[in-house]
Amino acid sequence: MSFRRRCTPRFAVTLLVVWLLLALLIHLKEELWDALGPGDAFNDADLGLDDIAGGKEAAVGPQPVARRTAVVVASQKSENSTWLSSYFPEWEKNIYAVDDPAAPLTVPKNKGRESMVYLTFIIENYDDLPDNILFIHPNRYQWHNDDPDYDGLPMLRHFQIPYLEQEGYVNIRCAWSLGCPEEIKPLGQEGEHRAAVHAGGDYKQAFEVLFPEKEVPKIVGVSCCAQFAVTKEKIRERPKSDYERYREWLLETPLADSISGRIFEYSWHMVFGKEAVHCPSPKECYCKVFGACDLDCETSSCAGRYILPPYSSLPFGWPLIGWEGEPRNRSASEI
Ligand SMILES: *[C@@H]1O[C@H](CO)[C@@H](O)[C@H](O)[C@H]1NC(C)=O
Ligand SMILES: *[C@@H]1O[C@H](CO)[C@@H](O)[C@H](O)[C@H]1NC(C)=O
Repeated sequence: MSFRRRCTPRFAVTLLVVWLLLALLIHLKEELWDALGPGDAFNDADLGLDDIAGGKEAAVGPQPVARRTAVVVASQKSENSTWLSSYFPEWEKNIYAVDDPAAPLTVPKNKGRESMVYLTFIIENYDDLPDNILFIHPNRYQWHNDDPDYDGLPMLRHFQIPYLEQEGYVNIRCAWSLGCPEEIKPLGQEGEHRAAVHAGGDYKQAFEVLFPEKEVPKIVGVSCCAQFAVTKEKIRERPKSDYERYREWLLETPLADSISGRIFEYSWHMVFGKEAVHCPSPKECYCKVFGACDLDCETSSCAGRYILPPYSSLPFGWPLIGWEGEPRNRSASEI
């Protein structure tokens, strides 16, 4: 009964007016919110298809593009780099098999150790390089990895990409044992043949051919083993033809792989703009390269970090089996 009494035409008109006013208020509030409300970041996150259809995209601006990070791996058929996919899924993988001509990525000739792979990658991708590129060897555990367990996983996990982006070139090793503070004396050692792996005797002649624009340095030093990272901007400071020339030299040289590989091992830092002796103090290096800033260090090493192993082949079962086949615990975390 009471309902019927209220539902007069006059009441219906009032209801309509109130409803219209409310709708107008809500609309105004939305308009004002858009104009004065939270910034673009909020709108970006909430941007749906409806918003784009409504023509709001002009206010959003370009999305920041994530920088691409890639690994370039100089591998052999017998080696295993699957751990890189497991732990670094976001990195682009370029796994070159040097001894498998049928592999998806391979080299024109298996010569000059990892340097043939590194140069081939640069040449083949010069016009579309990833932003940050880590040039590394395949196995997770390797005697020269700068880690107390020679484990590449924590080494790469802690590698400081922002520092690389600032420097352009960063050696992925801080320990001085092997390579620093001086490894090769190109002038004094010219013509020497001390050992099958000692490149000093051939370094000067090779250097003169490879880097005719540079004076042959008296001393060359860089922490060993040819694992380093470079930005695409740094790579492109040289024309592609330089890298093609280096690879041509590598393909043609009569030097043994152990020697030609080492000549590049002790040249990459200069290819990418560092001084002939590039040996930052371990204290500074561990802090900047791996974010380990509270280490207790001497001139050439830091406590609890890398020590030179007795052999270059790690025992089967490492890091849980030691050098004498004894059970062993990790020295440090893999995180
Ligand atoms: C490679 O190593 C992974 C562990 O990291 C292992 O699961 C896999 O079986 C290995 N592959 C080969 C072919 O040895
Ligand atoms: C490894 O660590 C465990 C737990 O701390 C310990 O019980 C064991 O004795 C250690 N093994 C070796 C070989 O050091």
